[in-house]
Amino acid sequence: MEAERSKAEARAAIGRTALQLATAESFLSTKEVARRLGVDTKTVLRYIRQGKIRAVKLGRDYRIAESSLQALLGVGSAQPAEETGSRALVTAIVNQKGGVGKTTTTFNLGVALHRLGRRVLLVDLDPQASLSISAGINVGTLSLSVYQVLLDEELDPFTVIRKTSSGVDILPATIDLAAAEIELVNVTLRELVLRDVLEKIRPHYDHILIDCPPSLGLLTVNALAAADRVIIPMQCEFLATRGLALLLRTLSKIQGRLNRNLRVAGILPTMFDSRTTHAREILDELKATFPGQVFDITVKHTVRVKESPAAGLPIMDYDRDSDASQAYMRLAAEVDSA
Ligand SMILES: Nc1ncnc2c1ncn2[C@@H]1O[C@H](COP(=O)(O)OP(=O)(O)O)[C@@H](O)[C@H]1O
Ligand SMILES: [Mg+2]
Repeated sequence: MEAERSKAEARAAIGRTALQLATAESFLSTKEVARRLGVDTKTVLRYIRQGKIRAVKLGRDYRIAESSLQALLGVGSAQPAEETGSRALVTAIVNQKGGVGKTTTTFNLGVALHRLGRRVLLVDLDPQASLSISAGINVGTLSLSVYQVLLDEELDPFTVIRKTSSGVDILPATIDLAAAEIELVNVTLRELVLRDVLEKIRPHYDHILIDCPPSLGLLTVNALAAADRVIIPMQCEFLATRGLALLLRTLSKIQGRLNRNLRVAGILPTMFDSRTTHAREILDELKATFPGQVFDITVKHTVRVKESPAAGLPIMDYDRDSDASQAYMRLAAEVDSA
């Protein structure tokens, strides 16, 4: 018995050494990988099962090659679209109410998806250009933006897309975009302009996230016509759900007339203050009214989220251990596996 066990141990030790020698690289435990990605170990185990990270089973745990983690984090992972034949999943972040966390969600979810090794493009469809500014774009000096892309069919959108320091690409906006609502009115198939633009771009990314303006005007309709999924950020406060019925009616009209494939990925409670019974009651009511449509993930209210754009950082870099950072990483895993 004793001898059997020591033989098995010896074999395992040899296996370990052989593995390290063969690949000459270091290995990490699931716990360590979870810590680096800012997710829990269950999520790491799911990634292993889905083949997103390469791992070798060793006893009860896994050993994960450092290079596999690097690939997941996006270091040199971009594969040309021709090889993968993939098309980006397009998610619109929509709510006609302002200040509910659309831009914050678009930016941080985008960066979180990039940390999972995905190729991500953010589209700023709000003339306020908050997303572009948060992503570090100097909008004052931009000569080309999403506005020209929408109004000039001949313009190659790739000449307008910018890389950002947080690893995501962006199709930026400037205040010019405010005029697009009016100018697009005279364009044929004016609701489908963005969809046509994104058709050219989709093979080059895994995820495209669209930050919508605080209205249900033509720009938002363009986003909804181009999207596969919608995320609705919502603050859990009095009257917050008032506009939701109108938004859902708009979504079903778009589904019927322009985009049969459109799905609601979920309503995302943002700036949630779990200490107040008021916020908790609203969340419970929301879940009761829209069963199955509210994400289990809630983004807690934290001043660190408010501070992060001024520091030019996503929340994952500004305060990685914060609840909001973890929430956006979890949301990314959910959006990615959908
Ligand atoms: N989880 C959060 N905790 C604290 N402040 C937040 C949080 N999410 C967003 N904010 C802040 O709330 C304000 C509105 O958010 P924003 O994303 O710009 O909303 P929208 O794009 O819907 O107008 C911003 O100042 C932002 O920094
Ligand atoms: Mg915004």
